[in-house]
Amino acid sequence: MKYFVANWKANKNFEEASLWINIFTKQAVVDEETRVIICPPYPLLYPLSQKIKKLKNIYLGVQNVSIFDNGAYTGEVTAQILEGLASFAIVGHSERRKYFNENDLDMEKKIHQAKKYHLEPILCVRDHKDKIPLGVKIVAYEPVGAIGTGLNEKLPKVLAMKQKLNLASETFFLYGGSVNETNAKEYLTSGEIAGFLVGGASLDPIKFSRIVNL
Ligand code: PGA
Repeated sequence: MKYFVANWKANKNFEEASLWINIFTKQAVVDEETRVIICPPYPLLYPLSQKIKKLKNIYLGVQNVSIFDNGAYTGEVTAQILEGLASFAIVGHSERRKYFNENDLDMEKKIHQAKKYHLEPILCVRDHKDKIPLGVKIVAYEPVGAIGTGLNEKLPKVLAMKQKLNLASETFFLYGGSVNETNAKEYLTSGEIAGFLVGGASLDPIKFSRIVNL
């Protein structure tokens, strides 16, 4: 199984997202061994869920989830609210750790909340110092210096980090950080990397479909 996660971050309105889906679905070959996970801003989840509901192996994910259950938490979006709208939840992206001071304890709470409401967590780690709670099935290694810089981390270093993370054999290990249609193939052909978390290149449906089609 290969996972291709499109992390749109704080980008795209509904019109742009609709166009993206129209183009992507014409270009991408999404077979039974492929899972495409589109992670839009929250307000687009419902309209996009309607657009993709007949498409096979294309799912929606969220970019973050609250540590809380429903309640008096102004501005929060809880896993309970998201249940049924999305299937996956990115947890612990380095931008959240950096700009919102999220820590390992928050990750545990978010993973708990996600699982409780049937969102499969995709845990992002910056390196082996970020804790990986038991039972996390999808881990994305995203070295900070590679994110949004065009400086993707070379395969040997990524594999060395995979070793250090000491993951359970059934864990899916993804790489993220300046992945594009040119550099993605080498990671995949190693047979050690189960897919990608893609930021910048995922904003363009043609570029992202080329990565999915590799
Ligand atoms: P990038 O972002 O592909 O733009 O480097 C990756 C990420 O932050 O998930």
